[in-house]
Amino acid sequence: MRMTTRDIRAKKNSGEKLVMVTAYDASTARIVDQAGVDMILVGDSVGTNVLGLDSETRVTLDDVIHHARAVARSTANPLLVGDLPFMTFRVSTEQALAASARMIQEGRVQAVKLEGGVEVTPQVEAITTAGIPVMGHVGLTPQSVNELGGYRAQGRDSEGAKAVVDGALALESAGAFAIVLESIPHRLAGWITERTSVPTIGIGAGPHCDGQVQVIHDIAGWNPDFLPRHAKRFGNVAEEFRRAVAGYADEVRGGSFPTERHSFRISNSVMEDLQD
Ligand code: KIV
Repeated sequence: MRMTTRDIRAKKNSGEKLVMVTAYDASTARIVDQAGVDMILVGDSVGTNVLGLDSETRVTLDDVIHHARAVARSTANPLLVGDLPFMTFRVSTEQALAASARMIQEGRVQAVKLEGGVEVTPQVEAITTAGIPVMGHVGLTPQSVNELGGYRAQGRDSEGAKAVVDGALALESAGAFAIVLESIPHRLAGWITERTSVPTIGIGAGPHCDGQVQVIHDIAGWNPDFLPRHAKRFGNVAEEFRRAVAGYADEVRGGSFPTERHSFRISNSVMEDLQD
């Protein structure tokens, strides 16, 4: 049974930690579902992790929808959340509604996520009023990396901390069912978590949030050259992949793969007919 936003909110009340991870394709999403997570985020991080882009700002609505559809086809249990990419919701509430509708209808997710605080509350209100659940996202918001001056922690001085708090409370009032807190001090995250009725989902925000979200490539060890400060490797997929491909290459070159067992039989009579 697929998780609902009601189930997600109930877990805050029962004190059970929420587990969310990104996925962008059918085979990864199937494994993530089997491992048992509450939510999958088809994030705009698809750009840097899968599409070879250098920034989240290059990801389009079509990109996320395409990947969300693949994730939806291969999962049965987690709540699916599709990220609204850069400038697909900021122009107007009409634009935000149209993008969210496409994400639900074409991407087949159950909720959308959008970045921003107080300034995006009209969009959050409009989308939730239209019956589409919204996950908010404050703190470090990668789509604003050029304005923030890099991928740096937020909310560390009084003005910054107040902006993060105001944003989170405004998103709650506007109807968000959960709020991502990215790269903010853990005490600030705990403070917000205690004061909001909706679950906080942390990434780089410490242990006091109601749940956590991570990028699958980081936790699975897909990228051997880089691990963000907020992440931890729980596996070494890159090494396993390399070993599989190197083993295949060795056996093809050495002649031990494939054997006849990996092919198909033909009768002697058909072979004899070829001689004629
Ligand atoms: O796109 C993404 O992966 C995200 C998470 C970092 C929350 O927005």
